[in-house]
Amino acid sequence: MSLPRTSRLPYGGDYNPEQWPEEVWAADHAAFDLARIDTLTVGVFAWSLTQPDEDTYDLTVLERILDRAHAEGRQVCLATGTGALPPWLAHRHPEVNRTDFEGRRHVYGQRHNACPSSPVYRRSAAALAGRVAAAFADHPAVIAWHVNNEYGGACYCDVCAAEFRVWLRERYGTLDRLNDAWNATFWSHRFSDWEQVVPPNALSEHWRGPNHTAFQGITLDYLRFTSDNLLRTFREEKAAIREHSDLPVTTNFMGMYRPIDYHRWAEHLDFASWDNYPPDERSASRMALTHALMRGLKGGQPFWLMEQTPSVTASRDVNPVKRPGVLGLWSWQAVAHGADAVLYFQMRQSRGACEKYHGAVLGHAGRTDTRVFTETARLGAELERTGDRLLGGRTPARVALLFDWDSWWAVEISDGPNRHLAYPPVLISYHRALWEAGAQVDVVPVTADLTGYDVVVAPLLHMVKGDLATRLEQVAERGGTVVTTVLSGRVDEDDNAFLTDVPGPLARLVGVRVDETDARPPGETNPVRLVADGAPEVVGAASLVHDLVLPEGAAVVGTYGSDFYAGTAAVTRHGFGAGEAWYVGTVLDQAGTDWVLRRVLERHGLVGPFADVPGVEHAVREVGGRRYEFVLHHGDAAVEVTAHVDGTDLLTGERVAVGQRLHLEPTRVLVLEVDGAGAGG
Ligand code: GLA
Ligand code: ZN
Repeated sequence: MSLPRTSRLPYGGDYNPEQWPEEVWAADHAAFDLARIDTLTVGVFAWSLTQPDEDTYDLTVLERILDRAHAEGRQVCLATGTGALPPWLAHRHPEVNRTDFEGRRHVYGQRHNACPSSPVYRRSAAALAGRVAAAFADHPAVIAWHVNNEYGGACYCDVCAAEFRVWLRERYGTLDRLNDAWNATFWSHRFSDWEQVVPPNALSEHWRGPNHTAFQGITLDYLRFTSDNLLRTFREEKAAIREHSDLPVTTNFMGMYRPIDYHRWAEHLDFASWDNYPPDERSASRMALTHALMRGLKGGQPFWLMEQTPSVTASRDVNPVKRPGVLGLWSWQAVAHGADAVLYFQMRQSRGACEKYHGAVLGHAGRTDTRVFTETARLGAELERTGDRLLGGRTPARVALLFDWDSWWAVEISDGPNRHLAYPPVLISYHRALWEAGAQVDVVPVTADLTGYDVVVAPLLHMVKGDLATRLEQVAERGGTVVTTVLSGRVDEDDNAFLTDVPGPLARLVGVRVDETDARPPGETNPVRLVADGAPEVVGAASLVHDLVLPEGAAVVGTYGSDFYAGTAAVTRHGFGAGEAWYVGTVLDQAGTDWVLRRVLERHGLVGPFADVPGVEHAVREVGGRRYEFVLHHGDAAVEVTAHVDGTDLLTGERVAVGQRLHLEPTRVLVLEVDGAGAGG
């Protein structure tokens, strides 16, 4: 089972007309026509209407919304509506409310906060999902199911504690194995009865917040358990839907979201979808990374961009509008990286509560002559013009970036070497170097098949599980290049150190031994001089953690410039089989990281056509023998580039020929259908 069947890239988004009078619905649909909006996500927060009390379901409002959508020629992604609890449920069964990290049982309020272990919650959510599915499985507007909303958070109540013990028993079988995994003899923690295990929170192992734990093993397992426990509620809703419908099921993810291991969820979704709310206006490379991460969830299958704001968010301290053209630029960027739908939150602005100033396609007055609506409509026309051509397109990537929630958690909950080291910034910086160079990059789990890649980049690969070390060696052996960094190869699946030299199972591949790891305060840097044949020499700034690297077969490429280890190796390259492996023993700044990855990509001829043009992104999708080259200009100033293919821009119909000078204003997008890439099929 894969994506919903559509005749073109679905365009539209969250639509909650149950929040306003029915007289307004006609105006909504008239506006949607103008903007070529064909898809609505309905019912995401409707629980208090669809089930007004424990014994009563009332789906009439959903029915009216769906009927109207169908009559207007629109398709619907129908939500189960379980993301926010109705007050009666929390009042009657207080145990559906979560207990927080400090051990406080919450009372009714907000959303996304049900205890995932609560039998009442689980039963009620699955029952509602079943009712909704039974009622609308055959409704002609419905093309997909949207379970719950943005799963996340954690609960530390007694029911969760009991479920955690069940989860541990399944994972470890015996207490001996558990004690071993948690290295429990340290600080006299040997458990002699499962009942002695309690969730790790502020009342138990943690003393300064979620990242400061006395026992990494139990904290790591609680993170894994929480992810699995939320997944169980998703699966229960999905199973309830499946009793009535075979349509594809998804839930909207949040990109690089730490609390949930999306890799462990992925197989249970029919297709991935996610909500893109970048932290700032300078996030182009970060968004490319996140799109690729979501595309990597299901082996490169396209995903849906389930939400993005057409203009502003409301939840940040400062909520800037999207500048002219940015709505289109970022939407096309999503498509360039594998989105098979472009959807917004939301279609019409809420009248009250915390999202009344959140952006929407239609504002409170419902005007269609606003800047936001005009840009929405322009994009709708462009998407319509591309027809079904881009649907199902795949990214032909030769580079893989490994992303691993276990390593993320393990690095950030570690005591030592440096609390200021976080996982995403390092991944973002390595990805950015690849992105700036114009490489097509897959972002994949550590379990992915690596045989199709020339280059595998694995920053902060703290935890090495299963046969990963061997599979990385095979990449180099057959001529590929592996890049890894400081704090890689340190711990096994239980977060216990390898009883060998660092970097443990990766040592043979990278040909070095780490004697010590120094940590320095944020802001302090150590210059690293990077030198390689034929490449311009660069001095990068290293920070936070510095391995004292002893080459054991590897060649020194970069050396520290200061401290007692001045002149010693910071970056190395090791010939291995027909290929090579790089070890970057520190956190390099962007210039240093760019330099390393440029050398790697050059070796494989993977530097893209616009690598040296600041702000210009190049992404490729292929489908049915056709090739699409996306050129997207994220920079602030107009640039001139030279066309690298013959083709037709799907957005304007203009012809482009190799060698032609192209003038790109900021936010300009070209979607080039390349000539002669083969007939469709
Ligand atoms: C999330 C939610 C939406 C809405 C938006 C606002 O993505 O899923 O319901 O709250 O944020 O940005
Ligand atoms: Zn709980």
